[in-house]
Amino acid sequence: MSAVLDIRGIRKHFGAVPVLQGIDLAVHEHEVVVLIGASGSGKSTLLKTINLIEQVDDGQIFLSGQDITDPRVNADRVRAQIGVVFQHYNLFPHLTVLENVTLASRKVFKRPAAQARDQGMAVLARMGLADKAREYPDRLSGGQQQRVAIARAVVTDPRVLLLDEITSALDPQLVGEVLDVVTELKESGSTILMATHEMAFARRVADRVVFLKDGVLVEQGPPEQIFDAPRHPDTVAFLARIL
Ligand SMILES: Nc1ncnc2c1ncn2[C@@H]1O[C@H](COP(=O)(O)OP(=O)(O)O)[C@@H](O)[C@H]1O
Ligand SMILES: [Mg+2]
Repeated sequence: MSAVLDIRGIRKHFGAVPVLQGIDLAVHEHEVVVLIGASGSGKSTLLKTINLIEQVDDGQIFLSGQDITDPRVNADRVRAQIGVVFQHYNLFPHLTVLENVTLASRKVFKRPAAQARDQGMAVLARMGLADKAREYPDRLSGGQQQRVAIARAVVTDPRVLLLDEITSALDPQLVGEVLDVVTELKESGSTILMATHEMAFARRVADRVVFLKDGVLVEQGPPEQIFDAPRHPDTVAFLARIL
């Protein structure tokens, strides 16, 4: 299996506070890796370093073999290969659903309008949103908006999808429809690195669960191991607190 993402020894400080303290983590093609850990453990910062929103102080990140932490790389070209969805949907309110989904295809990838539209409609159909293509985001529920954000992230066929707490801002009854879409993406072979508090979902969908504490990768393994037979006392304590 080839590593889509190969994170080696990354460190990050905010002022004097060490937020990532030497993280090594590989994500392979078609793998779903779930980051868990208390608030403030560094999950979002780790995802932001991959998307080049935050610069690492030390270490390297390889995306399909390319060192994207090399200051000479073109950050926009790197980001064009990564799909990102955050907690808040960040859709453009003045664009329709379909325009939101096809914006990058048209402006960044320079795909012809008809092709971008067909691909956008196909992805919206996969997300169960074909009938919403001409709506504006404020006409949609939070769950629908987040599914549009996922559609926008996958329509350009990124090498990896980064999902950061994508259900945390949703009413509980809307969480399921968004997680169902992630399950569908996994089944269709997407490579996913995601942070979530949804432990039942992590157990069901993760190929590997990674536990972070204070910017340290404490333990990782298949969900059965992490949830049923954690080896590190910090993992045991974290799970005891949240489960
Ligand atoms: N831009 C920033 N400036 C200063 N400190 C930050 C910044 N972003 C995050 N932090 C701090 O870094 C730590 C890790 O935060 P974060 O990566 O958001 O954790 P998580 O996503 O696991 O909750 C926290 O202590 C947080 O306060
Ligand atoms: Mg976070």
